[in-house]
Amino acid sequence: CGIVGYIGKRDVAPLLLEGLQRLEYRGYDSAGLVITGPKAAGLKMVKAKGRVRDLEARVPKRFAGTTGIAHTRWATHGAPSDENAHPHLDPENKVAVVHNGIIDNAAELRAKLGADGVVFASETDTEVLTHLIARSEADTLEEKVRQTLKLIEGTYGIAVMHADFADRIVVARNGSPVVLGIGEKEMFVASDVAALVTHTRQVVTLDDGEMATLKADDFRTYTTEGSRTTATPTTVEWEAESYDMGGHDTYMHKEICEQPDAVDRVLRGRIDDRFSTVHLGGLNLDAREARSIRRVKILGCGTSYHAGLIGAGLIESLARIPADAEPASEFRYRNPVVDPDTLYVAVSQSGETYDVLAAVQELKRKGARVLGVVNVVGSAIAREADGGTYVHAGPEVCVVSTKCFTNTVVAFALLALHLGRIRDLSVSDGKRIIEGLRRLPAQISEILTMEDEIKKLAKEYADAKSMMFIGRVRGYPVALEASLKLKEISYIHAEAYPASELKHGPLALIEPALPTVAIVPDDDLLEKNRAALEEIKARSGRILAVAHQEQEKADHTIVVPKNEDELDAILMGIPLQLLAYHTALELGRDIDKPRNLAKSVTVE
Ligand code: G6P
Repeated sequence: CGIVGYIGKRDVAPLLLEGLQRLEYRGYDSAGLVITGPKAAGLKMVKAKGRVRDLEARVPKRFAGTTGIAHTRWATHGAPSDENAHPHLDPENKVAVVHNGIIDNAAELRAKLGADGVVFASETDTEVLTHLIARSEADTLEEKVRQTLKLIEGTYGIAVMHADFADRIVVARNGSPVVLGIGEKEMFVASDVAALVTHTRQVVTLDDGEMATLKADDFRTYTTEGSRTTATPTTVEWEAESYDMGGHDTYMHKEICEQPDAVDRVLRGRIDDRFSTVHLGGLNLDAREARSIRRVKILGCGTSYHAGLIGAGLIESLARIPADAEPASEFRYRNPVVDPDTLYVAVSQSGETYDVLAAVQELKRKGARVLGVVNVVGSAIAREADGGTYVHAGPEVCVVSTKCFTNTVVAFALLALHLGRIRDLSVSDGKRIIEGLRRLPAQISEILTMEDEIKKLAKEYADAKSMMFIGRVRGYPVALEASLKLKEISYIHAEAYPASELKHGPLALIEPALPTVAIVPDDDLLEKNRAALEEIKARSGRILAVAHQEQEKADHTIVVPKNEDELDAILMGIPLQLLAYHTALELGRDIDKPRNLAKSVTVE
């Protein structure tokens, strides 16, 4: 979900709508805003089920105000509807709240308030906050909010307005980001810098347990206990333009095309040719500590989990440390054995995914050392981790991840190389991998020139009801990620399987109506992979191969440039991003905002 707020002198409704547009990738099933101002009596609210443009259509022509808060929602408690959209107001229209996160004891609080005669207007957990703040007898808005927060359990990023305290917005954070944007005689607040960068690059990120009061020309921060905190604004590094579509029809297309530059960025300044290694400044792991690692465990969700799988393979092959990846969402619930000799690595584009953050917190509670591989600088996971590396992909707006995935895998290659070179990787192998890494940007550009060919293939396969993706060892995570990409944006059912396991079950599914996408690198497993193609062809299955040379048994082959065996996985996924993209386009899907999904899942 996304929050944006403004207090100043400007006409607030257009500012809020623009901010919501920029946050829409975080949730897009309903939206709303509430405003007030010197000429506005009380609070005025508009909400709408659907997209921000549906909300915009409902905002009256004359809707003057200079203070306001707004929200775009990804439904958790209560289906998408006008009523369940935020903000939530109390019955007297005095208090308005927008909220990201989940109030765990909402049911209990609703029952108590209900017994006191409170009638609820929505099914959301957020509405309890509105009633509690409205019913508080404290003298100040800050104190009313503080008293309310004492009663609730759960996670929140909230922004609150009150008709009797119209000169301010009060915000609070616990587990869900809140960023203040500091302007000239105007202040902004948002759950994500994406909504702020066109107005100001000076930001203050609140910590968990911190609150803030925003007035037009001033802000102050303090803890939920009331003691003042010091907040020094930092400057956002990402350019405002990098949040725009830059001439492409979708963010996904733009982000796919940005990959050569993005990979160049993650490599920049890190390669040390003299010792055939890399420097990763933020790891906080000295050579002696790195040598004592016995295992590496990588945790992430969705696409980041897949990047972690490739990362684990890279660490095993280059650093010869046993490594594996697991969905963070599963890990945190199985009471894992936390081992002091294991290095834990949390992977997250946003640095906010709740399941990953909770896994990191659980690990730290048990004394583990956790590194973060994260894109968003200063995000919750980056701050919680003991050290780590940023993947420098730049902002990614499309809900499904492309350039962040690629950059994360490259960041893992750097980590693997670093660990390898202080353990037993040879100088010549280090050099070989570095040369391979340097070839990646140009090779990705070469793959991108094949877009027309891939578009034709997408047309050919878009009528499939289901698709199989297969790969072996290094190719298997590529198959997993490619199948996820296809199902997320085209809604075609897709399944990924290790090619080696085909004959143990899924071969039963093979028929002309179920095409298979096969990852067939030119490495020591080439013959084995070819055997799998034979098995499929013998059952009249259609095959699209991604390979380094034409595959005789395949109906179509996308031939990609060869790199070092260890790095091929990075390149082989890229044509399949384009395949998913053009399939979804062919089917008329809403590519940047697939149904039911959100970019950052900051709730359980
Ligand atoms: C959501 C998104 C996925 C993403 C996953 C992990 O489910 O829809 O595209 O891979 O979160 O996100 P993260 O920000 O932690 O990489």
